[in-house]
Amino acid sequence: MNLRIPGPTPVPPEVAVASSKEMIDHRGPEFASLLRSVAAGLQRWFKTASDIYLFPGSGTGGLEAAIVNCFSPGDPVLAVSIGVFGDRFAAIARAFGLNVIKYGVEYGRYADPVEVRRLLAQHPEVKGVLVTHNETSTGVTNDIAAIARAVAGQALLLVDGVSSIGALPFDQDGWGVDVAITGSQKAWMSPPGVVMVSASPRALKAMETATCPRFYWDFAKARQYAQNGQTFTTPAVSVIFALERALQLMEAEGQEQVFARHRELAAYTREQLTALGFRIMGDAQHTSDVVTAAWLPEGVDGKKLVGLMREEHGVVISGGQQSLAGKIIRVGHLGWVNKADLDGVFQALRQALPKAMATPAAAH
Ligand SMILES: Cc1ncc(COP(=O)(O)O)c(C=O)c1O
Repeated sequence: MNLRIPGPTPVPPEVAVASSKEMIDHRGPEFASLLRSVAAGLQRWFKTASDIYLFPGSGTGGLEAAIVNCFSPGDPVLAVSIGVFGDRFAAIARAFGLNVIKYGVEYGRYADPVEVRRLLAQHPEVKGVLVTHNETSTGVTNDIAAIARAVAGQALLLVDGVSSIGALPFDQDGWGVDVAITGSQKAWMSPPGVVMVSASPRALKAMETATCPRFYWDFAKARQYAQNGQTFTTPAVSVIFALERALQLMEAEGQEQVFARHRELAAYTREQLTALGFRIMGDAQHTSDVVTAAWLPEGVDGKKLVGLMREEHGVVISGGQQSLAGKIIRVGHLGWVNKADLDGVFQALRQALPKAMATPAAAH
């Protein structure tokens, strides 16, 4: 299978081998050194000196961790949403009783920092801004540096970097991000199962008075255990082995090269899909370097196309989510991916497209 969805992403053989290593004592010295090495590696990609906590869980759990550690029920927050995952961040905040002011845009658009600034001036009481860096459902990347300048320290800035960090440049400390979240199954070329969450000193300070209920996701416990090279609960040891190896591979390639590879493959994907008759979703300045979303050519049945790709060509791509179901395809190009992998997608599309035309309504 040529797995070209925006996560889980394929795992390089070295990483697969690392993840099958024998178990170790998660309260022993080997694990402590493993955890410290992975956390230090991650800090270089988040560009932060802040703590990064690893929890067994998925990206959504990390979003919940961010909310429950920073806020109290009733706190006003500005939820900036440009798609399904931005909506999810807002929904989690609502589930914990926060007072959510929502800034939403039409799917395919990006968040305008000028509008963020205007909303914050209109609502000076806002304690936190929630925003998605890369919206995986629409293939659009927000300009977090510009949004952070608009927030200007007025509120905590919580960034869903689940599908971006490790593949797109990120600068937590330089930009002034307080909490950033990412998942092992995305840019990190590792299996799903670990969510990584950073917490700035400001976020840890907010935690001291935040009263949202929390137990599993409690940063205070995570912090206390991390100081001894441990995690509060049993960690996903195999996934952390994988992450350690994947980080070595990423470091060997080099950060700038990793970012450039994603940028080039995204440009190539947009060019090839356009040539096949697709229309790229999103404004040209904000199209994602990790996943390309594209409107189907006229008359093509999206569900049929994705099915044919999988069944007849062994190529797995994604369709649209929620209101975009059947209207777009999404091609993932993050993590362990090269041009030949993507050529496999375009070749298969070339053959599958003519067979994926919607059946015309029966003539009378
Ligand atoms: C941007 C973004 N946020 C959050 C999530 C949710 O992550 P998970 O499915 O690991 O809970 C995803 C998953 O695709 C995502 O892409």
